[in-house]
Amino acid sequence: MSNNKDVIVRLIDVEKEFDGVKVVKKLNLEVREGEFLTLLGPSGCGKTTTLRMIAGFSHATSGEIELEGKNVADLKPNERDVNTVFQNYALFPHMNVEDNIAFGLVEKRVPKAEIKERVAEMIKLVQLEGMEKRKPAQMSGGQKQRVAIARALINRPKVLLLDEPLGALDLKLRKQMQLELKHLQQKLGITFIYVTHDQEEALTMSDRIAVMNDGVMEQIGTPDEVYNHPKTKFVASFVGESNILESYVEAVRGDLLRISLEAGKAVLHAPGFKKEEMIYICVRPENLQLSQTPIEHFSIRGRIIEHIFAGSVIKTVVELINGQRLRVARHPGEEELEVGTYVYVFWNPKKAIIVHTVEEQIYNIIEQNSNRMYKEFVEKYSATTEEV
Ligand SMILES: Nc1ncnc2c1ncn2[C@@H]1O[C@H](COP(=O)(O)OP(=O)(O)O)[C@@H](O)[C@H]1O
Ligand SMILES: [Mg+2]
Repeated sequence: MSNNKDVIVRLIDVEKEFDGVKVVKKLNLEVREGEFLTLLGPSGCGKTTTLRMIAGFSHATSGEIELEGKNVADLKPNERDVNTVFQNYALFPHMNVEDNIAFGLVEKRVPKAEIKERVAEMIKLVQLEGMEKRKPAQMSGGQKQRVAIARALINRPKVLLLDEPLGALDLKLRKQMQLELKHLQQKLGITFIYVTHDQEEALTMSDRIAVMNDGVMEQIGTPDEVYNHPKTKFVASFVGESNILESYVEAVRGDLLRISLEAGKAVLHAPGFKKEEMIYICVRPENLQLSQTPIEHFSIRGRIIEHIFAGSVIKTVVELINGQRLRVARHPGEEELEVGTYVYVFWNPKKAIIVHTVEEQIYNIIEQNSNRMYKEFVEKYSATTEEV
């Protein structure tokens, strides 16, 4: 394992089982100091479980968790330099804002004068001046969430864990709080590990996103990497909208692949593929184009079945001759194509991304490992023969 100084949280082969069922599988993750890292994935994929293991509320079945380079297996939650903000706020209903925020410091027997000063500083930070004496029942969802954040930050944790903290807010307030939280994190320079199932939220706020599916981290990268270069079919379809097409490589000329799909033929740029390989390709709706006349190298045919108005773009649904439906983003100024019109579907060959399935990736890992094991075996064997 590398020992980079800037890694503040490290998970090594972490697994969690409930009643014999693995809900987090071989998770390896390095979170850098000062980073805004998001765990993104659908409900039930293991995000909360992962966060609870980092916080110390739950023990890993196997693997190791390090905070600032030290294994924290034996540390209780309050002995770890992390704090958690939950979706349901978990405020004390009988206490006012000030007392809720001060709670952690009172517990730690911090001197009264210092508590007062630090609470005032937090109230200013989360913009709740004038609300000091209010009780949770007298505040909006957004205000309550600010109290919860202030209460976690007042302990000056190295890492703040946030589990769907904006999940209970309406869309407009959520968007506003996303920006506020991001600015707060930048200002304080604290490491945030943020959990959400909302891909748009993850793309807006994060420095890096770890995409999880069924207990497996399928990809980690910047929002740009995850959106523009998804590595798996799942990531391509979960992050942003995408059209996934199964195809077969018919011919390879340099980096240009000629592919065959059920609904026709097409071309795309991608290095390193061989003739006769089966591949999944992903084309974003904004990268698909329609034409009533044939386009060179493309023969994918379909029929327009619906136009969905979505503000600045129109999502046109095209049904291919094999029944698969594609979504094409078009602008109001483009040539009007009536429902029922037959069209050719094409794209810029550089704008189609090849995605692998997880099964293929697991297969690659097994293959690498068996190569490694084979090498070790050979090394060991040659060592013993030398001794003889
Ligand atoms: N205490 C528990 N006992 C049994 N199963 C659990 C427990 N906590 C979570 N699970 C299961 O683990 C899986 C992952 O849950 P969770 O981490 O809460 O997912 P997420 O936060 O991504 O929605 C789910 O299938 C959930 O039912
Ligand atoms: Mg959860």
